[in-house]
Amino acid sequence: MKRGGIILAGAAAAGVAALAAVAQQENGDAPADGVTFRGEPVAAEEIAVGRELYAETCASCHGADLEGQADWKRRLDSGRMPAPPHDETGHTWHHSDQDLFAITKGGVEAVVPDYESDMPAFDGILSDEEIEAVLGYIKSTWPERQRAFQAEITANDEEGS
Ligand code: HEC
Repeated sequence: MKRGGIILAGAAAAGVAALAAVAQQENGDAPADGVTFRGEPVAAEEIAVGRELYAETCASCHGADLEGQADWKRRLDSGRMPAPPHDETGHTWHHSDQDLFAITKGGVEAVVPDYESDMPAFDGILSDEEIEAVLGYIKSTWPERQRAFQAEITANDEEGS
Protein backbone atom coordinates (compact mmCIF):
# COMPACT_ATOMS: atom_id res chain seq x y z
CA MET A 1 0.00 0.00 0.00
CA LYS A 2 2.74 2.37 1.00
CA ARG A 3 4.56 1.84 -2.29
CA GLY A 4 1.43 2.55 -4.33
CA GLY A 5 1.01 5.83 -2.51
CA ILE A 6 4.50 6.97 -3.43
CA ILE A 7 3.96 6.11 -7.09
CA LEU A 8 0.69 8.07 -7.12
CA ALA A 9 2.36 11.06 -5.48
CA GLY A 10 5.07 10.91 -8.14
CA ALA A 11 2.50 10.83 -10.94
CA ALA A 12 0.70 13.82 -9.44
CA ALA A 13 3.95 15.78 -9.24
CA ALA A 14 4.70 14.97 -12.90
CA GLY A 15 1.20 16.16 -13.82
CA VAL A 16 1.77 19.49 -12.07
CA ALA A 17 5.08 19.93 -13.88
CA ALA A 18 3.44 19.23 -17.25
CA LEU A 19 0.69 21.76 -16.52
CA ALA A 20 3.27 24.36 -15.56
CA ALA A 21 5.07 23.76 -18.86
CA VAL A 22 1.85 24.21 -20.84
CA ALA A 23 1.00 27.37 -18.89
CA GLN A 24 4.41 28.78 -19.73
CA GLN A 25 3.97 28.04 -23.43
CA GLU A 26 0.62 29.79 -23.48
CA ASN A 27 2.01 32.83 -21.75
CA GLY A 28 2.91 35.23 -24.55
CA ASP A 29 5.82 36.66 -22.62
CA ALA A 30 7.58 33.33 -22.28
CA PRO A 31 10.70 33.16 -24.43
CA ALA A 32 10.20 30.75 -27.31
CA ASP A 33 12.66 27.94 -27.02
CA GLY A 34 15.55 30.20 -26.06
CA VAL A 35 15.37 32.45 -29.15
CA THR A 36 16.98 35.85 -28.65
CA PHE A 37 17.32 38.98 -30.75
CA ARG A 38 20.31 41.21 -30.00
CA GLY A 39 20.64 39.23 -26.79
CA GLU A 40 17.05 39.85 -25.63
CA PRO A 41 14.58 36.92 -25.36
CA VAL A 42 11.94 36.80 -28.11
CA ALA A 43 8.41 35.97 -26.87
CA ALA A 44 6.58 32.96 -28.33
CA GLU A 45 3.75 35.30 -29.36
CA GLU A 46 6.17 37.43 -31.38
CA ILE A 47 7.46 34.35 -33.18
CA ALA A 48 3.89 33.36 -34.09
CA VAL A 49 3.37 36.84 -35.58
CA GLY A 50 6.71 36.52 -37.37
CA ARG A 51 5.66 33.21 -38.91
CA GLU A 52 2.59 34.84 -40.47
CA LEU A 53 4.54 37.87 -41.67
CA TYR A 54 7.12 35.55 -43.21
CA ALA A 55 4.42 33.67 -45.17
CA GLU A 56 2.96 36.96 -46.42
CA THR A 57 6.11 38.92 -47.22
CA CYS A 58 9.14 36.63 -47.60
CA ALA A 59 7.95 33.15 -48.64
CA SER A 60 7.33 34.13 -52.29
CA CYS A 61 11.10 34.41 -52.78
CA HIS A 62 12.72 32.61 -49.83
CA GLY A 63 10.31 29.64 -49.93
CA ALA A 64 7.38 28.55 -47.76
CA ASP A 65 9.72 26.23 -45.85
CA LEU A 66 12.64 28.71 -45.90
CA GLU A 67 14.24 26.54 -48.61
CA GLY A 68 15.21 29.45 -50.93
CA GLN A 69 14.95 29.58 -54.70
CA ALA A 70 15.94 26.61 -56.86
CA ASP A 71 19.64 26.62 -57.75
CA TRP A 72 20.14 29.55 -55.37
CA LYS A 73 23.94 29.43 -55.55
CA ARG A 74 23.96 30.15 -59.29
CA ARG A 75 23.89 33.75 -60.48
CA LEU A 76 20.85 34.68 -62.61
CA ASP A 77 21.19 35.93 -66.20
CA SER A 78 20.60 39.42 -64.79
CA GLY A 79 23.87 39.06 -62.88
CA ARG A 80 22.03 39.11 -59.57
CA MET A 81 21.75 36.30 -57.02
CA PRO A 82 18.57 34.25 -56.37
CA ALA A 83 17.01 34.30 -52.89
CA PRO A 84 18.98 31.99 -50.57
CA PRO A 85 17.34 29.67 -48.02
CA HIS A 86 16.82 31.01 -44.49
CA ASP A 87 17.13 27.55 -42.93
CA GLU A 88 20.44 26.03 -41.82
CA THR A 89 21.39 25.10 -45.42
CA GLY A 90 21.74 28.80 -46.32
CA HIS A 91 24.00 31.49 -44.89
CA THR A 92 21.50 33.72 -43.08
CA TRP A 93 22.96 32.38 -39.81
CA HIS A 94 26.44 33.65 -40.81
CA HIS A 95 25.21 37.21 -40.20
CA SER A 96 24.71 39.01 -36.89
CA ASP A 97 21.24 40.09 -35.76
CA GLN A 98 22.30 43.67 -36.46
CA ASP A 99 23.17 42.84 -40.09
CA LEU A 100 20.03 40.74 -40.66
CA PHE A 101 17.94 43.64 -39.39
CA ALA A 102 19.80 46.13 -41.62
CA ILE A 103 19.46 43.87 -44.71
CA THR A 104 15.72 43.34 -44.16
CA LYS A 105 15.06 47.01 -43.52
CA GLY A 106 17.37 48.53 -46.11
CA GLY A 107 18.15 45.73 -48.56
CA VAL A 108 21.61 44.20 -49.05
CA GLU A 109 22.94 47.68 -50.04
CA ALA A 110 22.53 48.60 -46.36
CA VAL A 111 25.53 46.41 -45.50
CA VAL A 112 27.30 46.25 -48.91
CA PRO A 113 27.21 49.75 -50.46
CA ASP A 114 26.38 49.94 -54.19
CA TYR A 115 25.52 46.23 -54.30
CA GLU A 116 22.77 45.40 -56.81
CA SER A 117 20.26 42.90 -55.53
CA ASP A 118 16.71 41.65 -55.93
CA MET A 119 16.21 41.68 -52.16
CA PRO A 120 13.67 44.46 -51.51
CA ALA A 121 14.07 46.97 -48.65
CA PHE A 122 11.18 46.61 -46.19
CA ASP A 123 11.58 50.07 -44.68
CA GLY A 124 8.09 51.60 -44.64
CA ILE A 125 6.47 48.21 -45.34
CA LEU A 126 7.29 46.45 -42.07
CA SER A 127 7.80 48.22 -38.72
CA ASP A 128 11.00 47.59 -36.75
CA GLU A 129 9.01 45.31 -34.41
CA GLU A 130 7.65 43.33 -37.38
CA ILE A 131 11.16 42.91 -38.83
CA GLU A 132 12.35 41.61 -35.45
CA ALA A 133 9.39 39.21 -35.30
CA VAL A 134 10.13 37.81 -38.79
CA LEU A 135 13.81 37.37 -37.95
CA GLY A 136 12.85 35.81 -34.59
CA TYR A 137 10.72 33.29 -36.46
CA ILE A 138 13.54 32.50 -38.91
CA LYS A 139 15.97 32.05 -36.01
CA SER A 140 13.53 29.78 -34.16
CA THR A 141 13.82 27.23 -36.99
CA TRP A 142 17.63 26.87 -36.69
CA PRO A 143 19.20 23.88 -34.95
CA GLU A 144 21.27 24.48 -31.82
CA ARG A 145 24.64 24.57 -33.62
CA GLN A 146 23.64 27.34 -36.03
CA ARG A 147 21.99 29.29 -33.23
CA ALA A 148 25.07 29.13 -31.02
CA PHE A 149 27.34 30.14 -33.91
CA GLN A 150 25.12 33.07 -34.85
CA ALA A 151 24.72 34.19 -31.20
CA GLU A 152 28.49 34.53 -31.00
CA ILE A 153 28.66 36.61 -34.19
CA THR A 154 25.91 38.82 -32.81
CA ALA A 155 27.72 39.26 -29.48
CA ASN A 156 30.97 40.19 -31.28
CA ASP A 157 29.12 42.66 -33.50
CA GLU A 158 27.62 44.26 -30.39
CA GLU A 159 31.09 44.83 -28.95
CA GLY A 160 32.38 46.39 -32.15
CA SER A 161 29.61 48.96 -32.48
C1 HEC B 1 11.35 39.67 -54.29
C2 HEC B 1 12.04 38.57 -53.69
C3 HEC B 1 12.38 38.67 -52.21
C4 HEC B 1 11.53 38.88 -51.14
C5 HEC B 1 10.03 39.09 -51.17
C6 HEC B 1 12.35 38.81 -49.95
N1 HEC B 1 13.66 38.60 -50.28
FE1 HEC B 1 15.25 38.46 -49.01
N2 HEC B 1 16.50 38.17 -50.55
C7 HEC B 1 16.12 38.11 -51.88
C8 HEC B 1 17.30 37.88 -52.70
C9 HEC B 1 17.30 37.73 -54.21
C10 HEC B 1 18.39 37.80 -51.81
C11 HEC B 1 19.86 37.58 -52.19
C12 HEC B 1 20.48 38.94 -52.35
C13 HEC B 1 21.84 38.90 -52.94
O1 HEC B 1 22.71 38.17 -52.47
O2 HEC B 1 22.01 39.61 -53.91
C14 HEC B 1 17.85 37.99 -50.48
C15 HEC B 1 18.62 38.00 -49.32
C16 HEC B 1 18.12 38.16 -48.05
C17 HEC B 1 18.93 38.17 -46.85
C18 HEC B 1 20.44 37.97 -46.78
C19 HEC B 1 20.70 36.50 -46.63
C20 HEC B 1 22.12 36.09 -46.64
O3 HEC B 1 22.40 34.97 -46.21
O4 HEC B 1 22.98 36.86 -47.09
C21 HEC B 1 18.07 38.33 -45.80
C22 HEC B 1 18.41 38.39 -44.32
C23 HEC B 1 16.73 38.42 -46.34
N3 HEC B 1 16.80 38.32 -47.70
C24 HEC B 1 15.60 38.56 -45.58
C25 HEC B 1 14.32 38.66 -46.11
C26 HEC B 1 13.14 38.79 -45.31
C27 HEC B 1 13.13 38.76 -43.79
C28 HEC B 1 12.08 38.91 -46.16
C29 HEC B 1 10.64 39.14 -45.81
C30 HEC B 1 10.35 40.21 -44.90
C31 HEC B 1 12.62 38.85 -47.52
N4 HEC B 1 13.98 38.69 -47.44
C32 HEC B 1 11.86 38.95 -48.66
C33 HEC B 1 14.85 38.25 -52.38
C34 HEC B 1 13.71 38.49 -51.65
